[in-house]
Amino acid sequence: MVAEIIEKHEKAFGESPAFVVRAPGRVNIIGEHTDYNDGFVLPMAIDRFVWISVSPLDGSMVRLYSSDFDSWGSFDFNALEKGNVRWLEYVKGVAHVFMEAGYGLRGWQGVISGNIPVGAGLSSSAALELAAARAFAYVSGVPWDPMEAARLCQQAENRWVGVNCGIMDQLISAAGVERHALLIDTRSLEFTPAPLPEGSSIVVLDTSTRRGLAGSEYNLRRAQCEAAAEFFGVKSLRDVELDRFLALQSEMDEVLMKRARHVITENERVLRAAEAMRKGDKAELGRLMNESHRSLREDFQVSSRELDAIVECARQELLCFGARMTGAGFGGCAVALVEESSVAGFAENVSRCYTQATGLKAGIYPCRASGGASVVWQA
Ligand code: GLA
Repeated sequence: MVAEIIEKHEKAFGESPAFVVRAPGRVNIIGEHTDYNDGFVLPMAIDRFVWISVSPLDGSMVRLYSSDFDSWGSFDFNALEKGNVRWLEYVKGVAHVFMEAGYGLRGWQGVISGNIPVGAGLSSSAALELAAARAFAYVSGVPWDPMEAARLCQQAENRWVGVNCGIMDQLISAAGVERHALLIDTRSLEFTPAPLPEGSSIVVLDTSTRRGLAGSEYNLRRAQCEAAAEFFGVKSLRDVELDRFLALQSEMDEVLMKRARHVITENERVLRAAEAMRKGDKAELGRLMNESHRSLREDFQVSSRELDAIVECARQELLCFGARMTGAGFGGCAVALVEESSVAGFAENVSRCYTQATGLKAGIYPCRASGGASVVWQA
């Protein structure tokens, strides 16, 4: 991939890049719709990335070629205006928040290219933001702090792109650790690497249905969680103990009760899942993933017919420990924990089963856990 992007850069700009950065997408193993409730998440950075090649420019222009969209774009970060080329808006948003935070930026030109399916719930947008942040920081001599970068990129998404997301995707793309998922406390932003159980594989199951996050459902869920927290008189659902919830649930509006039940029980599942990972207990981790899916389907109501179908197909396989939808939902991907030696057969059977159930073609991607955003090549 690095050799390819260097070649594209030479073709696009008639010179070699000075360096190449990359940032990973992610799959969330468990802890869904908990990050904007100050709760716990357990994502893993995957071995699919956004790469950006960079050569520095004098002045404040950024010129870009997206090889995946075969599209050119440019902007002056001293005169930023919103536009409607989506991939370019993410890069502008990153420039905007870095400038606002007081960092002096330098201009550059480069090629963007990636292999994370777009809109599939694998955080291709967070990966693009973090790759852009890594590029801006390196070319401008800004010291790299993964936490700060994640926070700024989340702001870019919230304030420039207009999606009210939590911090999970940006933080895992910034700070991922090879061969590990990260248990993240999204309140303190403390994170602890959790090892993937020996002999198991994380397999992403792409339903090939898509639904943009900018859709109103995500923001609606967020508002419902805030209303539920208000019912309990706390800042966020993180602060509601299960016992307290059980004692008061009958007094709640039914929809808010279900949303709260998902978040409160999901937080507990994440902590148990991290414990299961520490012990290498695949069966327990898989069981918690199954339970998470049920809760997302019935209580949080963010699954879809296709997600349910692919999760069902996965669970029919003997050497699948558990499966659930992953990411915001309403389409996109599921994630399964599978015995390593049986991944090939698993992929074949799930593909066949899913096509039979829906008439659609699944994408099956066994994934390895990668490190976070980094400079991967320099001239
Ligand atoms: C999206 C958001 C995340 C998180 C998940 C749901 O991926 O970007 O912040 O809320 O949905 O868990």
